[in-house]
Amino acid sequence: MSAPTSVTVRVPAKVNVQLAVGAARPDGFHDLANVFLAVSLYDEVTATRAAALTITCEGPDADKVPLDRTNLAARAAELLAARHGIEPAVHLHIAKDIPVAGGMAGGSADGAGALLACDALWGLDTPRAELLEICAELGSDVPFSLVGGAALGVGRGERLTGLPVGGPFHWVFAVADGGLSTPAVYGEFDRLTEGVDVPEPTASPALLEALATGDTTALADALVNDLQPAALSLRPSLAATLEAGTGAGALAALVSGSGPTTAFLVKDADAARTVADALIASGTCRAARPATSPAPGATVLTA
Ligand code: C5P
Repeated sequence: MSAPTSVTVRVPAKVNVQLAVGAARPDGFHDLANVFLAVSLYDEVTATRAAALTITCEGPDADKVPLDRTNLAARAAELLAARHGIEPAVHLHIAKDIPVAGGMAGGSADGAGALLACDALWGLDTPRAELLEICAELGSDVPFSLVGGAALGVGRGERLTGLPVGGPFHWVFAVADGGLSTPAVYGEFDRLTEGVDVPEPTASPALLEALATGDTTALADALVNDLQPAALSLRPSLAATLEAGTGAGALAALVSGSGPTTAFLVKDADAARTVADALIASGTCRAARPATSPAPGATVLTA
């Protein structure tokens, strides 16, 4: 088969159904028990042969996406090319639908998507284990963007074990105005827990059971995000968004990852529409996006 001139990869967003955070480590990172669940909001990354590494982005928040080498998609192309001793001669186009700096791993999705797209474009066939190593080098959430489904992440969140998951689970995601910086939220977590004996993070058996059996009510009871107090401290207005969603019948509400996107678990697709409408009417968010989970990881669409 001749080498493709262009490859498109679709990558899901994530919500953390449990984010248990330990004390800061000497390297500044925090040990986690991080239960990731992929949801059906996607970015698409298209890699096309080019003279040099360039990035473009389209979508409602495209102006907030860095188009330089700080973009994880660019770093993914560079790391993969370096590993194989080739030039990262590629144009990366990101069709962005995942909220930017929203706590849904949008930047990580683009890193994983670019990695898989470049691997196919350049015909490298890099073993999965090596792709996962590169993902972990790119960022704590990037390996999960590659694998999707549901997984427990330990260490700084990058060491993954796949989890059995039922479903579908129905969600609404309320997109906030502006982003929150992940390091700032972890910094606020450290400030809020100063002098507190932070326990070792462990995954909740009740939560894993709810996930495996597809029991929405049990999952609603078990959702927990240790970063939520820190995100609310930096962005107090999120409390009103959480209240608007639960007031409209959501079974549970929580901040997604480091925020400021908020996640609402609902009974079914009808409830998702009701809660999304109520969130918009409340004026406490910029957009309300229904989605389902689990969703598959990074997938090549065209090659
Ligand atoms: O791994 P990643 O680059 O996505 O992490 C971004 C920032 O989030 C880190 O620099 C660190 O401040 C914080 N972080 C952390 N503990 C983790 C993951 C991330 O403190 N387990």
